[in-house]
Amino acid sequence: MSSLPPLLSSLVKGPALLPIIQADTPHEAVAIAKALADGGVGSVEVVLRTRQALAAITAIRTALPNLLVGAGTILSAADANACKDAGAQFLVSPASTPKLLEAMIATGLPLAPGVATPSEIAMAYEYGLREVKFFPAHLSGGIEMLKALSGVFRQVKFCPTGGIGQHNLAEFLALKNVFVVGGSWLTPANLVKAQQWGQITALAAEATAIARQIKTAA
Ligand code: 3PG
Repeated sequence: MSSLPPLLSSLVKGPALLPIIQADTPHEAVAIAKALADGGVGSVEVVLRTRQALAAITAIRTALPNLLVGAGTILSAADANACKDAGAQFLVSPASTPKLLEAMIATGLPLAPGVATPSEIAMAYEYGLREVKFFPAHLSGGIEMLKALSGVFRQVKFCPTGGIGQHNLAEFLALKNVFVVGGSWLTPANLVKAQQWGQITALAAEATAIARQIKTAA
């Protein structure tokens, strides 16, 4: 097995937030990323859910070199490798299988593979991983589930994603076993479509202020 990549938490700087960027064009992706960065966000996850997602990763890396740019919705070894080639600095997946974990680890990039059950966490743990994405966080038990997991998986830290918004961000961030919080609430599709970049910046600034009070990454 390949040696383990560095921890994602060692890369995330500033507020412990990981907003999702879903963009139809690289130009749109850069506009979203800039709006988020203007609101104090330091890390983003570009999801592989549009045809231009890989080009979007490359474009953001070039336009905003100080932003940490990862790739999400990784479902295969081919996805993982293509994202690395496009310039992704870390990888996130919605699920975990042995094949997917091995492929993601083999890229050498920090990763947060998706888990929703104790058995999936244990599988990632067996691979030596200590940081995972908890998805879909709200539907999988949310805050209470993360508290229950903290008792048994003492060394594992989570990036909860799914069903998180400004209303419950503080509660998730306050958990000791949460290292960053992800989601799409800072980049709503209607604001992106209407190119309301100022409103995205305002949402990001609000979330950044909440995060700075509770959890700021190293
Ligand atoms: C993800 O890709 O992590 C989820 O779709 C994000 O969930 P959310 O839209 O509820 O934030």
